[in-house]
Amino acid sequence: MAGFSCTTEPATPSLELLETWDREHVWHAFTQMAEYQPLLIERGDGVYLFDTAGNRYIDGSASMWCNVHGHRHPRLDAALSRQLGLVAHTTNLGLSNPTTVELARRLVEITPAGLEKVFFSGDGSSATEAALKIAFQYHLQAGAGGRQPRTRYIALGEAYHGDTLGAIGVGGVDRFTAMFAPLTFEAIRLPTPGLPAGPAPTADGGPRTDPSGRAATAAESLDRLEQLLAEQGDDIAAVIMEPLVQAAGGILVHPPGFLRAVRELTRRHGVLLILDEIAVGFGRTGTMFACEQENVSPDILCLGKGLTAGYLPMAATLTTEAVWRAFLGSHADGRAFYHGHTFGGNPLAAAVALESLAIFREEAVLQRLAAAIEQLRMRLQQFAELPHVGGIRQCGLMAGIDLVADKKTGEPYAWQARTGARACLAARDHGALLRQLGDTVVIMPPLSISAEELDSLVAATTAGITAVTQPRELSRHG
Ligand SMILES: Cc1ncc(COP(=O)(O)O)c(C=O)c1O
Repeated sequence: MAGFSCTTEPATPSLELLETWDREHVWHAFTQMAEYQPLLIERGDGVYLFDTAGNRYIDGSASMWCNVHGHRHPRLDAALSRQLGLVAHTTNLGLSNPTTVELARRLVEITPAGLEKVFFSGDGSSATEAALKIAFQYHLQAGAGGRQPRTRYIALGEAYHGDTLGAIGVGGVDRFTAMFAPLTFEAIRLPTPGLPAGPAPTADGGPRTDPSGRAATAAESLDRLEQLLAEQGDDIAAVIMEPLVQAAGGILVHPPGFLRAVRELTRRHGVLLILDEIAVGFGRTGTMFACEQENVSPDILCLGKGLTAGYLPMAATLTTEAVWRAFLGSHADGRAFYHGHTFGGNPLAAAVALESLAIFREEAVLQRLAAAIEQLRMRLQQFAELPHVGGIRQCGLMAGIDLVADKKTGEPYAWQARTGARACLAARDHGALLRQLGDTVVIMPPLSISAEELDSLVAATTAGITAVTQPRELSRHG
């Protein structure tokens, strides 16, 4: 422990010292710290990040799927400065702030019809946690005399909704969450229709554990949902899912029409639908919100990540008027939503979020994005030719590339070999920062990436994959 002793540390710590401190004091997320190798990112500019040694990398994971318009965007930086001139933070517990109010109004305007109320929190997991609690409390308080508690949730296989206890209750990536099962509830699991055919690596790098041994079709998944809703609908507080594509599950793309059909079934059976657009909202799939593509409006919508263009932590849980009404009454009724976060609705985050939405509007971001999505689609075909690429999936400006030991059989690599992680590490040598999901290499750059930058990112990804999966071939060709 450092304590308060009078150590004589240099005013500006050396890079070496910072790396030592990083290893000694910073506990990194999803990282085995015994093996951690520091890489300190000092600054950013557009789609580029620069480490402390001055090396430049394309931000191929959009700084964990949240950067939208690039780093140090002049308009976003200026919006932050303007808000700093007013106030950095005030609580939204019983108080408000003009910037936060304006953002709530804008979110209601741009999200699918019917979503009218905005509950702010600080990160995606908190947004899903709030959604789950709102759904539970809604059923207790809806209708004249209230109802029996509904304690069950339906979620998809391979689902990911965050890392807090409620969020992992509905999450389905077992390797990360199974050990915490005794601490939380267990969702009813619906087979995801997004699994690729044949064996493929999961987010943890191991073979998939679908008990049926094969991927479910959309029809099978929907039949199961219908059966569950018919038999247990009165116990089910909500169905929760990521619309169109399950990102952390391995970029698992659902067949068209699946979301629409889930919406129809939940509506027919009076069960709330929570859509988690934390990863896919704000343009990632090509439209502002993924659910627009199937004309679906949920009862509850979770937003995060790109909400502030990836600048500051902020998330939001939007609900319909009908949901909100169940929470109204006199103080003595005890119907309020007794849940909150210190930084919910933070004005700095709200200022940058508002400016980001203005950029979307004024700089025709979504219109320009179509070309980048098409370019990515074309370039992904090159990966299919690589001898250890077993599958490729794309949804908008996000793609997953599965690395497999045997392309013919789809046999995965041993998960302990960390092939996906090593491919991403190797891509650093070629100027790209990537993040894997098990042995699926993910390409998810800021939406602002130019055609030339996207080509460089694809080249670096190819080089990283080749270096790890064909090391002998590489050395043979020099
Ligand atoms: C779909 C989805 N939901 C929730 C979360 C959790 O968000 P956060 O990491 O901000 O808590 C994530 C994060 O990746 C996500 O992809």
